[in-house]
Amino acid sequence: MLFVAEPMLGAEEKSAISEVIDGGWITMGPRVRAFEQAFAALHGVPDCVAVNSCTAALHLALKALEIGPGDEVLLPSLTFVATANSVLYVGAKPVFVDIESVERPLMSLSDAESKCTSRTRAVMLMHYAGYLSDRNAWANFAARKGLLLIEDTAHAIGVDEVGKYGDAAAFSFYGNKNMTTAEGGAVFAKDPVVLARVRQMRGHGMTSDTIQRLGNRSSHYDVTMLGFNYRMDDLRAAIGLAQLKYLRDWNHRRKALTRLYREGLAATCAAVCVPFATDDMSANHIMPVVLPLDVDRDEIAGLLRDAGIQTTVHYPPVHQLSYYRTRQRGRRLQKTESFARREITLPLHARMKDSQVEYVVASLARALNEAGQCPKSRRSPAALIESGASSMLASP
Ligand SMILES: Cc1ncc(COP(=O)(O)O)c(C=O)c1O
Repeated sequence: MLFVAEPMLGAEEKSAISEVIDGGWITMGPRVRAFEQAFAALHGVPDCVAVNSCTAALHLALKALEIGPGDEVLLPSLTFVATANSVLYVGAKPVFVDIESVERPLMSLSDAESKCTSRTRAVMLMHYAGYLSDRNAWANFAARKGLLLIEDTAHAIGVDEVGKYGDAAAFSFYGNKNMTTAEGGAVFAKDPVVLARVRQMRGHGMTSDTIQRLGNRSSHYDVTMLGFNYRMDDLRAAIGLAQLKYLRDWNHRRKALTRLYREGLAATCAAVCVPFATDDMSANHIMPVVLPLDVDRDEIAGLLRDAGIQTTVHYPPVHQLSYYRTRQRGRRLQKTESFARREITLPLHARMKDSQVEYVVASLARALNEAGQCPKSRRSPAALIESGASSMLASP
């Protein structure tokens, strides 16, 4: 099976974990701090706080920025549910905003503007599929409306511009991300005071952690705020340090594979819409495509699965999930809903070979043909073989 995402783990990660085990200090030790410094440096920010998930990072960012009950937060519905859940965790209200268009499925600034009220405190951006939102436009919007600006950067690790849009950013190192620590996350914050608050809240609100007390020869600590156990451990941090060395190369590979997908899809079945443009700045996290209007997506997914290709959907809109739907009745986000009904995510990860992209493209073309959707003018996989593109049908 060719998977939608695959972690890039190997000998370096294994030996990094062994070293931690042999060293005997397995959590919140020197590797965690080293990882924080290396991750911050890679993105050109002074510091960051490593945590055990992006969900925790989002929660802490909102908490540290003192967003809470009575506040409204603007965010896309086309995101993973964690983005919206974090708003509920702090007692604020998520206000879902539509996307710009099917071709550019990022949160729409004009829809955000129309949903701003006197209670709006913050706007949360999500760089869908790794494609960056317009930094100046959103920074100006937040400044004009007096809003905090928070990035959910789960899809855009390793791009220079991310994490610097506004007040805070939350990263994910979950297993399907561009780099992974299996589970994990990190928080950036513009204000060092906010970042210090995040650091303290990560460990139960304690004024010092074990390694600091060891260094200070003190067994005393206080708790001066309500905190959580959102700590990262040294095993994960060691994996993260090994991964960071290759993140840029992997992101380049993802970009090249995305370009290949775009070319293949344009040549083979132009009825499929490929969102965004080749030159858009992106970490190329996933490969979403939008199927023609009258295609049965489940049928296409089934045919691709028969060909050994996993696909997924990014995302069922959050406002349509039962938990949210029953709480926010009557909300419609037409562009988001139309995109999400037709979107299918194709495999994309740095381990993939060019021939595997070609195989996916050819298999999609064949599936669309079988489903009776590919207009005659477009070439079938058989025609591709005749035209010399035989590697397109190589098995993954
Ligand atoms: C956009 C987005 N936000 C938040 C998350 C949550 O990340 P984590 O699993 O690290 O908590 C994810 C994870 O897949 C995500 O894709």
